Amino acid sequence: MFSVRPLTPNLGAEIRGVDFAHELDEKTFRALYRAFLRYQVLLFPPQDLSPGRQVAFARRFGEVQVHVMNQYHADGYPELYRLSNLDEHGKPSGRHPDRGTLAWHTDGSWQRVTGQATIIYGEVMPDSGGETHFCDMYGAYERLDAAWKGRIANLRAVHNLDFSRTRRHGEDPLTEAQRLAKPPVDHPVVRTHPETRRKCLYLGDHAESIVGMPYAEGRALIEELNALAVHADLSYEHHWRPRELIVWDNRCVMHRATAYDAATQGRVIRRCTVLGEVPA
Ligand SMILES: [Fe+2]
Repeated sequence: MFSVRPLTPNLGAEIRGVDFAHELDEKTFRALYRAFLRYQVLLFPPQDLSPGRQVAFARRFGEVQVHVMNQYHADGYPELYRLSNLDEHGKPSGRHPDRGTLAWHTDGSWQRVTGQATIIYGEVMPDSGGETHFCDMYGAYERLDAAWKGRIANLRAVHNLDFSRTRRHGEDPLTEAQRLAKPPVDHPVVRTHPETRRKCLYLGDHAESIVGMPYAEGRALIEELNALAVHADLSYEHHWRPRELIVWDNRCVMHRATAYDAATQGRVIRRCTVLGEVPA
């Protein structure tokens, strides 16, 4: 059907032999979904993938998010979100399209119903930099000592896109309508993956404060846990080739992009995020 090659001893697998030119049959999709749950990050080798086929593939996972930041919608598909540093002449503009992606985070944690799979197709990739790194949030939780686990067992964190995007990274501020559409929400700091039933740490860069804790104390706790969550031996660092496709499970990994020279190198990705559930 397809072959699976683990990318690290812990997470990530390369999947060969899936042809996205056609709708996947149910048996193939179920097997892919099992691999998604097992490996957390799936990499597909370079191939052509039209925007329509990407959205169709995403819909197999569940309901696809229409992102509130509607200036990024791509190719007539409101489900697709394109991040590009190219200007209208196709030349690198020098402007990084989303600096927030450089910090470890999990997609859609700023919504009540958070991100399940993120599905990214790399249209243009720089020769160096612009990597995507993944870390395992099951492992992040399991490696905390008993004192930490006890301390955070019942905590909830407030996730806020306006915080992470506007105040922290100095991006274009959200419009008033976008801000009203996406007020801060709170989620458990330790969530149980709804399908594998394993516990994972759930924080990242959108997490602003801890419910019931003084603001500064909550900020410090979040910063400390976000740093503790990343273990080199539980991570996968991907250097992209153009036209690769990557799918990951936001419920149990954090990810970040690395910097690249946006003045001389192009980087264009086409992304969609599948909605999951309210974390518990
Ligand atoms: Fe992201």
